[in-house]
Amino acid sequence: MRVFAHRGYSGKYPENTMLAFREAEKAGTDGIELDVQLTKDGQIVIIHDETLDRTTTGTGWVKDHTLKELKALDASVIKGGTCPPERIPTLEEYCDWVKGTKLITNIELKTSIICYPEIEEKTAEMVRAFGLEDRVIFSSFNHLSALRMKELLPQCPVGALVENNDLQFAGYYCHKYGFDFYHPDCHLLTKANVDNCKEYSIGINTWTVNDLGMFETMVEWGVEGVIGNFPGVPKAWLKAQG
Ligand code: G3P
Ligand code: MG
Repeated sequence: MRVFAHRGYSGKYPENTMLAFREAEKAGTDGIELDVQLTKDGQIVIIHDETLDRTTTGTGWVKDHTLKELKALDASVIKGGTCPPERIPTLEEYCDWVKGTKLITNIELKTSIICYPEIEEKTAEMVRAFGLEDRVIFSSFNHLSALRMKELLPQCPVGALVENNDLQFAGYYCHKYGFDFYHPDCHLLTKANVDNCKEYSIGINTWTVNDLGMFETMVEWGVEGVIGNFPGVPKAWLKAQG
């Protein structure tokens, strides 16, 4: 069972910041899940929303701001002043840090609302530049975008993210269309679908697993990975089992 820190250690630290990523590693996480979008000048930045308002001191669309403008913002405000100022990280900054760790990274391409020019190509190039091909999993709610990553980097696993539903026969679906993983909302996932994924050798990384009851169910069902806001908690639980 792999534990991924959802947007870093976002339960305690500002989501999708280097602070949240570093703290997740300190907490013993196996991997980190993060979200990528593109700036006005075509740089890949790590931020969940297409807009700046919820998590930073800025307003408006990410795509309408240059990297320089975004770097002037404080991305720690989501934690209500409990953390020091944090900048929106670029994917390049993240890759430069993560290459010195043993962490796996789930890069989620936020390509469902904005169709960012060449975000897939730029992301693939970044992963290649840092030699991280054997330590990334790509995913997206936009399955065409996720499968584009498979064309660009065939050696990298790709996950089919789904929201608001649990795909019927998810294992068959992933097998048929070329996904390696199924990434469902844990609250909607059924045991029947876990079994269907096993039948087709499709791994499951499910989100957002934030309580131990849900985590225990996922362990019992033999899910390959959980993505949660408090990665230290499931890691401690697994250690306690011996
Ligand atoms: O990738 C898993 C999860 O992060 C998907 O939902 O909205 O948190 O990006 P969201
Ligand atoms: Mg995400």
